[in-house]
Amino acid sequence: IKRDPRYAQLTEEHVKFFTDLLGEGSAVIDGVTKDATDDIEPFNGDWMRKYKGHTKLVLKPGSTEEVSKVLKYCNDHMLAVVPQGGNSGLVGGSVPVFDEIVINMSRMNEIRSFDEVSGTLVVDAGCILEVADNYLKEKGYIFPLDLGAKGSCHIGGNVATNAGGLRLLRYGSLHGNVLGIEAVLPDGTIVDDLSKLRKNNTGYDLKQLFIGGEGTIGIITGVSILCPQRSNAVNVAFLGLESFEKVQQAFREAKGQLSEILSAFELMDSYSQDLVHRVTKNKHPLEGEHPFYCLIETSGSNSEHDNEKLEKFLEYVMEKGIVADGVLAQDATQIKSLWGWREGIPECLGHWGGVYKYDLSIPISELYSLVEDTREKITKAGLIGDGDKDPVVGVVGYGHMGDSNLHLNVATRTFDKRVEKELEPFVYEWVSKRNGSISAEHGLGLAKKNYIGYSRSETMIKLMKQIKNLYDPNGIMNPYKYI
Ligand code: FAD
Ligand code: MLT
Ligand code: ZN
Repeated sequence: IKRDPRYAQLTEEHVKFFTDLLGEGSAVIDGVTKDATDDIEPFNGDWMRKYKGHTKLVLKPGSTEEVSKVLKYCNDHMLAVVPQGGNSGLVGGSVPVFDEIVINMSRMNEIRSFDEVSGTLVVDAGCILEVADNYLKEKGYIFPLDLGAKGSCHIGGNVATNAGGLRLLRYGSLHGNVLGIEAVLPDGTIVDDLSKLRKNNTGYDLKQLFIGGEGTIGIITGVSILCPQRSNAVNVAFLGLESFEKVQQAFREAKGQLSEILSAFELMDSYSQDLVHRVTKNKHPLEGEHPFYCLIETSGSNSEHDNEKLEKFLEYVMEKGIVADGVLAQDATQIKSLWGWREGIPECLGHWGGVYKYDLSIPISELYSLVEDTREKITKAGLIGDGDKDPVVGVVGYGHMGDSNLHLNVATRTFDKRVEKELEPFVYEWVSKRNGSISAEHGLGLAKKNYIGYSRSETMIKLMKQIKNLYDPNGIMNPYKYI
């Protein structure tokens, strides 16, 4: 792609406007004026070290009004922008492609209000997920979303990507839990739809466009969200299984027998566990190797009742030969360590260099076949091995079994065109043939922008473009990305 010449180049005069407006400590500048401030590079690079932009200016507004003034100025002067939360996104959506101005939300990080009866939390968009969840813990509530990046991702970023995470099967998607949004449009208009109502059928539900909008129509500044009661009895079981057929049987049984207390059902193949072990050197929770592992979590209000259910379930699945081996966490430390074998996967896979990440919705019966087909293709191409010259370290599968959401990851020593050529468009065609989705939860960003047609019809894409043009006629919001 080439830089779009419609966008203005940043000048000293622009920078002066912003620094006068926002005050000291609210901008990171590099190369526009003489006084370069902090290191700008962390804002230009993504979590995977795959994408790198060239911004010279990062702005950190401290209020919705400031976001409004910044955007209006950018819109009037044709300055392109990228909204940025915790920069943990996995599709290159949160960093500039060229010299777009980064609007970083980290200074808007307050909890605005919490209603202890209804469980409605209102936060600034830049509030870190874990900070909000720790606050809720004190009140006996839980944030309805949890994911491995919780220590750095922002709630605004979660909403902008419609993140799914580890407990979607229990608490549902943000499209249901988010009750209201405050956002700023590129022309500076403040959209105050920060409703706290559970039910509100008065016309189009426009806030839904911002949920999963990936910063292409406006900047989310505030979020109101319905939080469930925190369960005081939490149990975790870690199981080893001999085939994907048996994983499906175990899932079926877990839903039937654990029903209302089931809060996560996660899948990990042995290849992913092997790579985690090679990085952490931790002792695996189960003796011997099994092709598949599942992590089952239950959350309920009565530990005796939950323990009884879970023990009965485990007895049943072991007796029937569905599960080959399993362990039950005995305390909070063990719960954390078992979760580590699942939550630690993304970070460990990055250990060797680069990772090709695919986040797919696939009909559950065929979910794992894609990993096998991909591994076969990469093996046949002679690209995998232990030698320094073999680019691929491992082809692994893991993900949110409970949501039919597979993460197919190819860990490499370095990003390598030969590997990419084997994977794309192969993976997208494979998924499209089965009417799956090429992005279940991470979004499209820059990484998948050319492939939207594998999951959406021309009519749908045309409607999306019309909406984009309506909200952002100058096209300053997160350009070069999916729309
Ligand atoms: P960023 O990465 O900063 O931005 C993501 C996108 O949202 C960009 O397009 C950006 O422009 C836009 N954006 C950010 N803030 C705003 C705003 N205020 N207004 C408008 N647009 C905005 N994702 C899942 O769905 N499920 C998982 O289980 C999961 N696990 C992860 C585990 C790890 C270790 C990592 C690194 C990532 C994981 N992710 C997961 C991906 C990522 O963390 C989530 O998508 C997260 O929601 C992104 O939040 P963020 O604040 O980091 O956003
Ligand atoms: C996960 O489920 O671990 C996240 O979506 C991150 C990833 O896919 O690696
Ligand atoms: Zn995930």
